[in-house]
Amino acid sequence: MSSADIYREIILDYYRNPRNYGKIPNPDIAQRDSNPLCGDELEMHLTIQENKVSDVKFTGKGCAISQASASMLTELIMGKDFEYVKKLTKEDILDNLGLHDLGPARIKCALLSLKVLKSGLYSYMIDKLKDTASADKIKEEASGLY
Ligand code: FES
Repeated sequence: MSSADIYREIILDYYRNPRNYGKIPNPDIAQRDSNPLCGDELEMHLTIQENKVSDVKFTGKGCAISQASASMLTELIMGKDFEYVKKLTKEDILDNLGLHDLGPARIKCALLSLKVLKSGLYSYMIDKLKDTASADKIKEEASGLY
């Protein structure tokens, strides 16, 4: 089995058995967005405590790549420092998925969850932290993803 096959199997496993699927009551961050190419939607909920992600869940419907990417992203950020989450990049997500040769349409599938996360962080930093400068930076990153 090639490494591409192994990654494909892992993606299918996350798609069929999504980790951290669901909603959080009264989350600190609740953000929803869609992939403009297909209309598929994704929603993420996060609880932030002492500058860490104490809980994160997602719901949505979409292709295997978008759903697996979201599920893997929740595992990646669970328990992590807020600063770590802010710095996540497109490359981190593609590394996580083991996919580096995606076409432009599939890249949008893979990055939908990061787009949702960054948009949620943006709102949190504006509304709760009143940190407009950092929020603007995040917004710029988020718009660069699509
Ligand atoms: Fe819709 Fe992938 S085809 S997110």
